[in-house]
Amino acid sequence: MSNILCIGAGYVGGPTMAMIAKFCLEHKITVVDINKDRIDRWNSDDLPIYEPGLLEIVKEARGRNLFFHSDVAGAIKDADIIFVSVNTPTKTFGEGAGKAADLQFWEKTSRDILENCRKPWVIVVEKSTLPVRTAEAMSKILESGKSSTKFSVVSNPEFLAEGSAIKDLTTPDRVLIGGEQNEKGRKAVEQISELYSHWVSKDRLLLTNVWSSELSKLVANAMLAQRISSINSISALCERTEADITEVSKAVGMDSRIGTKFLEASIGFGGSCFRKDILHLSYLCEFYGLHEVADYWASVVRINEWQTDRFFHKILLEQFNNLTDKVIVLLGFAFKENTGDTRDSPAIPLCEKLLGEHANVRIHDPKALDNARIDVKNMEGNLSFYEDVYDAVKGARVITLVTHWQEYLELDFERIYEKMVKPAFIFDGRNHLDHKKLFQIGFNVFPLGRPPMRHIQ
Ligand code: NAD
Ligand code: UGA
Repeated sequence: MSNILCIGAGYVGGPTMAMIAKFCLEHKITVVDINKDRIDRWNSDDLPIYEPGLLEIVKEARGRNLFFHSDVAGAIKDADIIFVSVNTPTKTFGEGAGKAADLQFWEKTSRDILENCRKPWVIVVEKSTLPVRTAEAMSKILESGKSSTKFSVVSNPEFLAEGSAIKDLTTPDRVLIGGEQNEKGRKAVEQISELYSHWVSKDRLLLTNVWSSELSKLVANAMLAQRISSINSISALCERTEADITEVSKAVGMDSRIGTKFLEASIGFGGSCFRKDILHLSYLCEFYGLHEVADYWASVVRINEWQTDRFFHKILLEQFNNLTDKVIVLLGFAFKENTGDTRDSPAIPLCEKLLGEHANVRIHDPKALDNARIDVKNMEGNLSFYEDVYDAVKGARVITLVTHWQEYLELDFERIYEKMVKPAFIFDGRNHLDHKKLFQIGFNVFPLGRPPMRHIQ
């Protein structure tokens, strides 16, 4: 039996440790966080994150071999394996502000480990997404003290996506484990592999050196995001040429060399990682003097911002460049469906821009209203939140679909149309709704990358 600790009880730490607890009954799993409120919620039935299927797994394991608390130092003392899953946001100050990774939380954790560890050998696992060669810095910190503990640093980046975390963790495409190329490193990798092999087949365990593992995580996110920016850039061309982006995506994706996934045009990608990880990748390239490569990746983020801006300008243009006092309803605020997470959601800049035009903005989301309230708290203007879509659309002129929640497909759009000011407009930022049907009801419909359907010319 090992004492496994995870530092950081967030979107990654919570679900990944719940999965290890579910499958590795012989180990004790402890998850700690400096955020006491978060820990209290992990110990309740009102978990701090919404993730389909997570509550059932946590309830089954909590108190058996899964424990949440906020005594970080105490938990480190007993730990044999320590997963570090703290946040690694983008720096907002000093050198590299707006581009480089802010490693203050990660470094604080490394020093906490050094100060408090007691076991003779401790494996420290980088679960957070980190710039390549961070493990070297971590090893330097861990070897800098007088501790008699020997450490091995292993990179084991997480590839789960929010909204499908449990499915992704249950049947991962691969589990990447990068270790030092020496005897100690190989032993550490073996131990981490052993944990996953409780439920992941051997051919899905990919063992590499530490640097390849760290870099692969950044590159995987950059490449996924690059596909979205690529298709979003083409959605703009479709709008000029009467080509249809859904047909283009399908035709392109059917080439087995390209594949069908991550080719859905959208108002722009969001989430806590794509933007930050690409910026960190781009900054790393700059650091190594690879300016062309840095610029190439930075352009993925630029196109993403442009796409959200383009969406906003389409609304403005179709409303005769005047949004003053017009009621505009945002259907969805989360950065994607099946999550309450709003970090870097395109809804945030969209809201800001609409308020800048003095629009009357109403926000609906099935799971993200609490986070949305925090995101907009410093925005000035006429802004309100609705739990019921039919209340939100009373007297509205425009609906914008931001998040493709399944429940938006089931709305009674005839009833919605009745409640709106005419002419009524829908701007579908996800090409999620049935545009033909909406047009028949009477809406003026503006999809992305497809010809608009207007009753008024
Ligand atoms: P998060 O912000 O939800 O959680 C991080 C937690 O770490 C917070 O609760 C914070 O209080 C805690 N923390 C910070 N410093 C601490 C310290 N010194 N001691 C104890 N706790 C501390 O972040 P997240 O979304 O879980 O992401 C964590 C890492 O995983 C990031 O590097 C991210 O890039 C990566 N990642 C995230 C996802 C995702 O879907 N969110 C997926 C894959 C990888
Ligand atoms: C993404 C990756 O998919 C995960 O593998 C990775 O572990 C994670 O980032 C991370 O490192 O944080 P996530 O951001 O949770 O996961 O969600 P995605 O499903 O990737 O969606 C990201 C954004 O892209 C969402 O706003 C989504 O709506 C958008 N998207 C996705 C599109 O606009 N078009 C698509 O075709 C696919």
